Amino acid sequence: MSTTLITNIGELTTNVEQGGDPCGTLRDAAVLIADGRVAWVGRAADAPSAARVAQAHAGARDSPESGASVRVSTVGAEQMTTVDAAGRAVIPGFVDSHTHLVFGGDRADEFEARMSGTPYAAGGIRRTVAATRAASDDELRARLAGFVAEMAAQGTTTFEVKTGYGLTVADEERAARIAAEVTDEVTFLGAHVVPAEHADDRETYVDLVCGEMLDAVAPHAKWIDVFCERGAFTADESRRVLEAGAARGLGLRVHGNQLGHGEGVTLAVAAGAASVDHCTYLDDADVAALAASDTVATLLPGVEFSTRQPYPDARRLIDAGVTVALASDCNPGSSFTSSMPLMVALAVREMGMTPAEAVWASTAGGARALRRDDVGVIAPGARADLVLLDAPTRVHLAYRPGVPLVHTVWRGGEIL
Ligand code: NIG
Ligand code: FE
Repeated sequence: MSTTLITNIGELTTNVEQGGDPCGTLRDAAVLIADGRVAWVGRAADAPSAARVAQAHAGARDSPESGASVRVSTVGAEQMTTVDAAGRAVIPGFVDSHTHLVFGGDRADEFEARMSGTPYAAGGIRRTVAATRAASDDELRARLAGFVAEMAAQGTTTFEVKTGYGLTVADEERAARIAAEVTDEVTFLGAHVVPAEHADDRETYVDLVCGEMLDAVAPHAKWIDVFCERGAFTADESRRVLEAGAARGLGLRVHGNQLGHGEGVTLAVAAGAASVDHCTYLDDADVAALAASDTVATLLPGVEFSTRQPYPDARRLIDAGVTVALASDCNPGSSFTSSMPLMVALAVREMGMTPAEAVWASTAGGARALRRDDVGVIAPGARADLVLLDAPTRVHLAYRPGVPLVHTVWRGGEIL
């Protein structure tokens, strides 16, 4: 059994709610990691010693609520690594619940034109579809590996990856298969846009997505997603796609209300989707429906930052009781960044979120959006995904935007 004690943590964000603090903040804390899981969390002064670790691990996993209570017994020569956090902050690893990382080419020219006033349009997706189809498996794999490494360096320990730049049976199957090599959270997004070759027979394309394409992709995927938006798929088409995915046992996600008001949120809530993502243009009924549902509103501020569109109103959602997540939406069109620290900074500085809310939304919120309870939290039994910040508090993620504050990242107890 390999064990690590991280001690002398100045501020620990556990995300285990405590006394009205959703972040479950502890000061002068320590975390014990054993066999890839969090084994114990508590005050540094109470941390188990090397000689007590093996039993502490077993005891804490048996009673996950009993954060600081450790059954102690003496065990012989247990090996334990001790990390002195020197008063720095530790947060759970970021959970990026929305990315599009299997693609070829880029669209820097489109970005440049946008910065001269050309508005963002979903039609650009077709350019990436062409470049993705032209790429070899190994090119896509190498590109994806690069993104995985850059995410790890920025503290992301769980991430979702969508297909959606293949849009043929073979290209979507390939994207899902390659994505499944790096994450369990693979999403089938055959309904991203109608590809050019089906521009005049979109119904045939929706049939393909709901039939042969779904059959080919489903074995690699956990989720199905649809871009329900003017210029992409109508509400009726989107509903068909979600129903077909649900019938195959996939969980549901929706891209909605990004470019204008629409039916995405209503559809997602009615279908019981885990998350509806973007949520930039919402009316009061959308907010009320979200608040009364289990559907997470995932906000993607990298998109507004990169497209110069108005940011979603996070304050309105949180004040209404909606569960909010933050994700990068990393993709070559609307948000070519994988940086969760940047999402936190944007959410705080541009969207009215407090630093605590933004850190929660980018960790526990992402986990909720993926319906996971083993990540996004630092509690006994959870996967040991932690980020040691080179800063005394999590506030610094927003206070010092653009500065690399990620000091050390553990995923499953291993340093990345
Ligand atoms: O989430 N909105 C739809 N899909 C992506 C953009 C994809 C692209 O522009 O290539 C998004 O923003
Ligand atoms: Fe997206």
